[in-house]
Amino acid sequence: MTHSLCVSNADKVYRIDAPRPVRGTAFHSIQADDTASVVCDDASVTSIGGATDAEVSFDATGCTVVPGFVDPHTHLPFYGWRADEDAARLTGVRYESIHAEEGGIFRSVRMLAEASDDEALDFSERLARAMLASGTTTFETKSGYGLSVDAELRQLRLARTLAERVPQRVVTTCLAAHAVPRDYTQGEWIGRAANELLPRAAEEGLASACDLYVESIAFALEHAARLAQAASELGLRMRVHADQLVDNQTASFAARWGFATADHLNHSSLDAIGDVAGSDTCAVLLPGATFTLRQAKKPEARAMIDAGAALALGTDLNPGTSPIHSVPFVIALACRIYGLRPVEALVAATANAAFALGLDDGTGTITAGGPADLVVIHAPDFESVVYRPDHDWIAAVVCAGELVHVAPWAEGRVTR
Ligand code: NIG
Ligand code: FE
Repeated sequence: MTHSLCVSNADKVYRIDAPRPVRGTAFHSIQADDTASVVCDDASVTSIGGATDAEVSFDATGCTVVPGFVDPHTHLPFYGWRADEDAARLTGVRYESIHAEEGGIFRSVRMLAEASDDEALDFSERLARAMLASGTTTFETKSGYGLSVDAELRQLRLARTLAERVPQRVVTTCLAAHAVPRDYTQGEWIGRAANELLPRAAEEGLASACDLYVESIAFALEHAARLAQAASELGLRMRVHADQLVDNQTASFAARWGFATADHLNHSSLDAIGDVAGSDTCAVLLPGATFTLRQAKKPEARAMIDAGAALALGTDLNPGTSPIHSVPFVIALACRIYGLRPVEALVAATANAAFALGLDDGTGTITAGGPADLVVIHAPDFESVVYRPDHDWIAAVVCAGELVHVAPWAEGRVTR
């Protein structure tokens, strides 16, 4: 039996029907359809246009409908927060010094190790559900808080169980090199990661991508090359945390090596941006980390758009550098502090974020035959989300054809 849902009478519907990834001037051709309804059957969109009879309907009068947000970079699952480190940073203590004293990533590794599977899953599920209420219908999870082969595999298995517990679609990355584990040199750990961790993760089907952190406190480009070789042999996509705290030429390296994504890019040079723009590497910008670390150096986002880079946005949700789960908030940050325009940020957080995750089935767009993932925003335009960033605009969220979240004030708009 089919299960039908109609989101009717929306003031605007952003289908984002340009070829993907959206680049350069194509960002500016994205327009909304006026007064439209979106009809879904089971987990797919069937039509956009006139309303039809459906088992469930949501009256979206006065609302803007956009594709469900895709968050292409989070550090879920994890356990516990590090607010004291943030307070210390606000007095001038550097992220790198906290890391050197075995806080930071090492502290999250300890907290996850000490938590039971259920504790870690309950904590992470609450966050995933808060993300859902903010409109995120697809998100990335990764490891990186294990730092041993067994603990990394445990985190990847927790990610798989988390995916079974929530309505969203989850794509998982093995962050094989996040911090240098105690008792290892960088090279020794990369050898373990390439020869043991990645093959086991791939064999168990636990990850579709490999990621690493290239930074003075973590790993170098030679390690990126070694992991990329292993990832390619295993059929894993390759991603990298690039040029976040200094320019270490990682974005350019990622573009030349055909990585799927290069993330952060605060310090990437204009030359590197040219390399990324001329490649299929997706530039994943994470303004939540820039905001949290109060980084003066921001990515050259306008130059990226002008050069034609495939640009996406994510939260980087993690307990250290970006304790932020809301894509609408990140969209507002991207406009305020990176200079994106609201519709550019919307595309970056939907269609292009799906491209970053390698999802080419219409995720991040509203297309007949594509996934029925929708966010109903209680505003006559999308720009309002950027204009009033702390307001909860979400009237309803549809994930895989189910009305999974309805704001209490909007219950009267639902007919069953
Ligand atoms: O994307 N920089 C490396 N990884 C994370 C931070 C992780 C942490 O501090 O726990 C990031 O910013
Ligand atoms: Fe990250």
